[in-house]
Amino acid sequence: MSGEKPAIGVFGAGWVGLVTGACFAELGHEVVVRDVLPERVEALQAGHLPLHEPGLAELLERNGERLTFTTELDEVVSAPIMFVCVGTPPTYSGDADLSAVWTVVNHLPSLEERAILVMKSTVPVGTGETVRSALDARGLAHVGYVSNPEFLSEGSAVRDFMSPDRLVVGAFTEADAGAVAALYEPLDAPIVRADVASAEMIKLAANAFLMTRISFINEIANVCEATGADVEQVAKGIGLDHRLGPHFLRAGIGWGGSCFPKDGVALKQLASNSGYHFQLLNAVIEVNELQKRRVIGKLEKHLGKLRGKTIALLGLAFKPNTDDLREAPSLVLASRLLAEGAEVRTWDPVADASNVLQGVTFCDSVLDAVTGADAAVIVTEWDELKTLASEEVRTAMRRPLILDGRNLLDPEQARSAGFDYEGIGRASSPLASLPETEEREHQLEA
Ligand code: UGA
Repeated sequence: MSGEKPAIGVFGAGWVGLVTGACFAELGHEVVVRDVLPERVEALQAGHLPLHEPGLAELLERNGERLTFTTELDEVVSAPIMFVCVGTPPTYSGDADLSAVWTVVNHLPSLEERAILVMKSTVPVGTGETVRSALDARGLAHVGYVSNPEFLSEGSAVRDFMSPDRLVVGAFTEADAGAVAALYEPLDAPIVRADVASAEMIKLAANAFLMTRISFINEIANVCEATGADVEQVAKGIGLDHRLGPHFLRAGIGWGGSCFPKDGVALKQLASNSGYHFQLLNAVIEVNELQKRRVIGKLEKHLGKLRGKTIALLGLAFKPNTDDLREAPSLVLASRLLAEGAEVRTWDPVADASNVLQGVTFCDSVLDAVTGADAAVIVTEWDELKTLASEEVRTAMRRPLILDGRNLLDPEQARSAGFDYEGIGRASSPLASLPETEEREHQLEA
């Protein structure tokens, strides 16, 4: 750093903290990011990024002058605006664990100058109010509090920060709201000014609505399978209605990640703690759990009992372009397959599951993973899998069965390459997509 006092301090060098710090540095601010893990800070100081996020390494390199990493509290609290980007994982009850947030608040020294604490971590509604009272009680009334939730998707977090659909700024005073909004001015994005509780709820409700869309389209997919319709065509037909829009209508084997599972349960729990039974959200979560497990039934339909069968799980990360395995459907699938007595071979280009999955074989290439397999399951829609339906793969497999959990492949192409193909919500029999006359001939031949 140039020796100037940082303009921005960031608590937490996880996904959100690193993206926030690097992007503010890119916008020209002096930023200091503080983490309590010395090994993480040392790695960052040495230029090693502890996670896979496209574009982030380049930002860190380009802005090295303006961006420092530290374990020291003094350095981060010298900034007039401090972003809280610490984890809020679920507790056993499903409530968000705010201990890291409270560590930050309780360790704030008695700052001489005016400062603003900005909450980016996802927290239950009411947290801001409680933090405000705690700050006041400690004689820190001159420390402002702003809720500024993040809407960063892993894999596209840098782009999401730099070109946001909107920014949400919830504050107790106009001055605090204005100071935080001013930081984002170069991004030229719509700013939603709200009270603190509403800003907190916007974040939880946005995630819950996105989950609802996915569970909705997954249930439509399941009904498509039962009735012979194709969910891809249905999603296109729905999405072109401008009132509905095309996003988050990709049917698949369910959502995972560090946000939806945790935030869904946290909102459900928040409602329930307040005496409200959030029926729809409960169903949305349950549909997702069932969706991950439907893959087992589909495999059994083709292979019978799975004991002794070899299944290749292709993709382990909860989505492409990240190495994040938190709540990834692959983990549920692998465990269920092992419990059924199957042999599981896995491949992922970046995610390393060796610490979380036992009893599976990790392979370095797709070809290695599918060799001798009775089925290949596309779990994560990595680009590398777009060419899965190849001659090389077909001859390497014991049985050429592809279960496409992300509807990544063209069913007709896969079938004409000699594979048995089954996607999600797509007619599973080739007969369903043949013209009527061909279909009859096919049936007669059979
Ligand atoms: C999500 C939100 O999209 C962000 O706006 C939010 O800021 C973030 O959570 C958070 O709370 O921090 P993220 O979990 O990184 O971001 O990833 P998404 O792209 O939302 O995907 C979540 C899961 O939904 C993935 O498993 C993905 O495969 C699945 N998905 C997504 C579908 O199954 N179908 C879709 O159409 C879209």
